[in-house]
Amino acid sequence: MMEKRSIIIDCDPGIDDSLALMLALASPELSLEGITTVCGNVPPDLGAENALKILKFMGRLDVPVYQGAERPLWREYISAQDTHGMDGLGESGLPKAAEGQVRPGAVEFILDTLKSRDKVSILAIGPLTNIALALQKDKEAFSHLDTLVSMGGSFKSHGNCSPVAEYNYWCDPDGADYVYQNLGRKIHMVGLDVTRRVVLTPNILEYMQQLDREGSRRTGDLIRKITRFYFDFHWRQEGVIGCVINDPLAVAYFLRPELCSGFDAYTAVETEGISLGQSVVDEMNFWRREPNSHVLTQVDTVGFMALFLSRLFDKSEEEVRRILGQIM
Ligand code: RIB
Ligand code: CA
Repeated sequence: MMEKRSIIIDCDPGIDDSLALMLALASPELSLEGITTVCGNVPPDLGAENALKILKFMGRLDVPVYQGAERPLWREYISAQDTHGMDGLGESGLPKAAEGQVRPGAVEFILDTLKSRDKVSILAIGPLTNIALALQKDKEAFSHLDTLVSMGGSFKSHGNCSPVAEYNYWCDPDGADYVYQNLGRKIHMVGLDVTRRVVLTPNILEYMQQLDREGSRRTGDLIRKITRFYFDFHWRQEGVIGCVINDPLAVAYFLRPELCSGFDAYTAVETEGISLGQSVVDEMNFWRREPNSHVLTQVDTVGFMALFLSRLFDKSEEEVRRILGQIM
């Protein structure tokens, strides 16, 4: 019996956050100790409500949800509801989870969980405000941290909320830079260089609808509902047919690091001026600083999609790969 890996998912659900939660919940290797929400795509209370909707859909309301930071460390909070809809789930109008409760104290939950286990990993797929606050409050607790994976930043890819900045690090640049400068461990940076390559296309969505007919849970239908708004945003904003699903790649990479490759480097996040929120990756080691990040630059997109679909729809990866061979 394989030992499950304990994780916390710190998130801002959010459409792609929801897909990441679904992948984590469908992966037996993981023990999701709790979900913490942070101001990002939507305010943390709405994010927590959306997390409950996904937990209810997955039959996992046993997973606790903790609400976190209402605003970035220093900056004004700016949501991404233009991208994810006012409800954070693509204006899909999914019903509230009648059961399940939202607890306060995300930062305390993160610290308590770190201190109560030998090895806990954190998959941070929103702004890093909660992680920064936890680190400021009790750095010693992070000696129990196994791995920190952060969906955020970009190395050479253009930004998605400024020419150079990715939303999670732009929303709270001070929080992001504090974590990079103070964690004392290499952060696995799943940035836009790799996540932009992971696109949910109309063909894959159609495959999901067909898979619904063979399964018991209408996962494809839920994904179609919450991504319609996101498809329209991607066409308007980036001329992309489909939608980039950033966050589930952070989960897939944690499950299978071999899906991606990259390099170690010192990284800092710009906290002011025209390039606010830019992750500056010192690839050539100009600053002679110890690497504090493992920056991902390559991704096996078919391998990711095969893992993602096989887990969400309970299919063999071999069977999924056969169909992906037609549509990717
Ligand atoms: O820039 C993409 C990231 O910002 C994703 O995590 C998305 O959910 C938003 O949080
Ligand atoms: Ca997110």
